[in-house]
Amino acid sequence: KAKAGPKDFLHIDDFDKDTILSILDRAKEVKAQIKSGDRTYLPFKGKTMAMIFAKPSMRTRVSFETGFHLLGGHAIYLGPDDIQMGKREETRDIARVLSRYNDIIMARVFAHQDILDLAKYASIPVINGLTDYNHPCQIMADALTIIEHTGQLEGKKVVYVGDGNNIVHSWLLLASVVPFHFVCASPRGYEPDVRTIKRALKAGVSKIEITNDPKEAVRGADVVYSDVWASMGQKEEAEYRRQVFLGFQVNEELMELAGPKAYFMHCLPAERGVEVTNGVVEAPNSIVFPQAENRMHAQNAIMLHVLGL
Ligand code: CP
Ligand code: NVA
Repeated sequence: KAKAGPKDFLHIDDFDKDTILSILDRAKEVKAQIKSGDRTYLPFKGKTMAMIFAKPSMRTRVSFETGFHLLGGHAIYLGPDDIQMGKREETRDIARVLSRYNDIIMARVFAHQDILDLAKYASIPVINGLTDYNHPCQIMADALTIIEHTGQLEGKKVVYVGDGNNIVHSWLLLASVVPFHFVCASPRGYEPDVRTIKRALKAGVSKIEITNDPKEAVRGADVVYSDVWASMGQKEEAEYRRQVFLGFQVNEELMELAGPKAYFMHCLPAERGVEVTNGVVEAPNSIVFPQAENRMHAQNAIMLHVLGL
């Protein structure tokens, strides 16, 4: 069992390497049990979770709700119109009220400060289901998927191609804790947050490279990773970004440069024909669907961890 850390799961580097790896081991165990059809393991029996969504979601909502239910709990979906965090009611009041009904809060928000405020005022664990800044549950699922497909994350070369966004920040924070080789190739002006890069470099755990050259970046990659060029909240920039990001599409040519051992990953939803071609998503070395499935297994282990189970 992983040792106790902060009550919340907000950033991967809030935890040490042993804790992160033991959460991932736990995810494998619970996954095997769920896949075997055994429904006798019900650690969340009698527990409830409030799930706050200020943004749309398929994977996060369905994987959290299904995973929590399969392990005996009950999850409540609160969409953008239900809670209207900060508009109908202050975040600190929401945190304190939900703490009196529920055992966990999971939230997907715009401003990162909102998740920090929820965690500050809630007396129960808060799990980050994506903010404008990061997406730690996604990167835990990605790490699990890489371990399953290549044996281990340590020493592997993961090359992210595209916008230096929330996904990249979580990769950088994972690279601050677990040693691997992380490369981010973005257009000039769309690199990840400088402070986060510095933090990851200062940790001195992983080899980290930030570049504007996707072709050079992908050489020898174990994983080539892509995400949308315009994230939630930036959709009005989508047209403009399509021009800026020309040359950053993950296509057959780029995968060819990466070499035969490279897997393709994408957190999804994907815009086929934009940041990635249809052919790359459908290729035999694309592991986007096992990756999506692992959201549920990684999060089950995260929920067990924050509940001390
Ligand atoms: N990858 C991910 O978080 O998907 P959703 O936006 O559908 O939850
Ligand atoms: N960067 C994307 C990830 C979606 C899961 C977004 O924030 O919209």
